[in-house]
Amino acid sequence: MKIGLLGHGVVGSGVTKITDSCKVKKVRRLEVTRILVKDESEMTDQRCTMDVEDILSDPEIEVVAECMGGVEPAHTFCARALEAGKHVVTSNKKMFAEYARELLELAKENSVSVRYEASCGGGIPWMSNLERIGRLEQVNGFRGIFNGTTNYIISRMEETGAGFEESLAQAQSLGYAERDPSDDIDGFDVRYKTTLSALKAFSIYVKPSEIPVYGIRGIRPEDFVYAKKNHLAIRLFGTGQLYSDCAELWVMPVMITDMDVFADVRSNFNALESSSATLGRAVFIGQGAGSLPTAHAVVQDLLDIYQGQDSLIPELRRIPVNNDVTPMRFYIRTEKPEFFAGISESVEGNVILTKEITVAKMDDMMKACGDESAFAAVVMK
Ligand SMILES: NC(=O)c1ccc[n+]([C@@H]2O[C@H](COP(=O)([O-])OP(=O)(O)OC[C@H]3O[C@@H](n4cnc5c(N)ncnc54)[C@H](OP(=O)(O)O)[C@@H]3O)[C@@H](O)[C@H]2O)c1
Repeated sequence: MKIGLLGHGVVGSGVTKITDSCKVKKVRRLEVTRILVKDESEMTDQRCTMDVEDILSDPEIEVVAECMGGVEPAHTFCARALEAGKHVVTSNKKMFAEYARELLELAKENSVSVRYEASCGGGIPWMSNLERIGRLEQVNGFRGIFNGTTNYIISRMEETGAGFEESLAQAQSLGYAERDPSDDIDGFDVRYKTTLSALKAFSIYVKPSEIPVYGIRGIRPEDFVYAKKNHLAIRLFGTGQLYSDCAELWVMPVMITDMDVFADVRSNFNALESSSATLGRAVFIGQGAGSLPTAHAVVQDLLDIYQGQDSLIPELRRIPVNNDVTPMRFYIRTEKPEFFAGISESVEGNVILTKEITVAKMDDMMKACGDESAFAAVVMK
C-alpha cells in the first residue's frame, strides 16, 4: 500500500523510522513512497518533494498520512486527499478538532476513511479502544490526563514544591513544552482532545470553542499545600459525560483523592478512562507524545486501513453541550474572595470552597469576576 507522508518532523520521521525498518511482514507492505517537506534543507531522502501535487495527484498513493501540524494548509491537503479518493490518517488534533465534521462527511462521500488515533493520547490506543467498546455498548463517560506537558509541570510542583515558572522552564529544557506553551498550559490542547474523544465516544461533534476550559497558568505552590493537607492530588482533566438529551464536556484542573489511580500518574504520562455498562471503568496509561510512541499510533492506523478495517464513520448525533447538570464543589483561589460570597461554603484567606454548583454556574462566576490570576479546580472527593 503506497503512502504519501505530509511533514517529516518529530512524528513524520518516526513514521518512516518504523515503516523503513520494521521486519513484520504486514508492516513491510506499508510503503511510504513520497514525503512532503517545506524547504530544501529537509530534502534528505529521495522520496522527499516540496510539491504536494506529487502526492495528491499520484493515483498510486492510496493513503495520505498528515503529520505537518497547524490548521492550514493541513486541512486543505486532507480535504483534497479525501476528494481524490485517498484514505487519510492524521496526528493533528488542532486541525481535526476544528474540521472533523467536514472531513468525515468528505470521507463518507468518497467511500474512504479518516483515522486519527495519534491525535489524542499519542501512543496510547485510546481512540481504537473507544471504537471497540462502542461496537458493543455506548461509552457513557470519559475523563483523564490528556496532556503530558502540564502533567509534568504539576507533578514536579507537587513533588518538589517548586514554582510554576521554574517547572515550566524545566519542561521546556527537557523538550516537553513548546517555546510558546499557551496551548498546553491554558488547556487548549486538552480541549481539542476532549472534542475528539466526544466524537469517538459519543458520536457527537462539538466545536472546541463550546467547551469551557481552565488551565494551570495560575497554579501556585500554595494550591499543593492545600491539596496535601486534605489528602488530595491536583491533575488537569478533560472530561465528557453523556446523558439522554445532552453531554457535559469541560477541561479543568481537578483535586482528586491521593488514593485515586490518576494521582499515581506522574511526569509526562497520560492516563485516560472510559466508562460503559458492561466493561465498567477502564483506564489506559502511557506516553501521550514523543516521536516513536506517536508514530506507532500513526502506523497502527495505516495497518488498519491496509487490513481493510476502515474506521466506521458514525452518523453524528445532534446532542447539545450542557454543563448545567452535575453539581460539584470547586476550590477557587482568588484576589476577590468577596465576589464569590453567594456560592461559598467556606473561606480561608483567599481560598474559597464553594457549595455544590454546576460547571456552567462556576464558569459564569469566574468570567464575571475577571480575576486573571485566579486558580480554580473541581474538588472530586
Ligand atoms: N510531537 C509529538 O509528540 C506529537 C504527539 C501527538 C500529536 N502530535 C501532532 O502531530 C503533528 C506534527 O507534530 P510534530 O511534533 O511532528 O511537528 P514538527 O516536528 O514541527 O513537524 C512538522 C513538520 O511538517 C513540516 N511542515 C509544516 N508545514 C508544512 C508544509 N506546508 N509543507 C511541508 N511541510 C510542512 C514542518 O516543517 P518546518 O519545521 O519547516 O515548519 C515540520 O518539519 C502536530 O499536529 C502535533 O500536534 C505531535
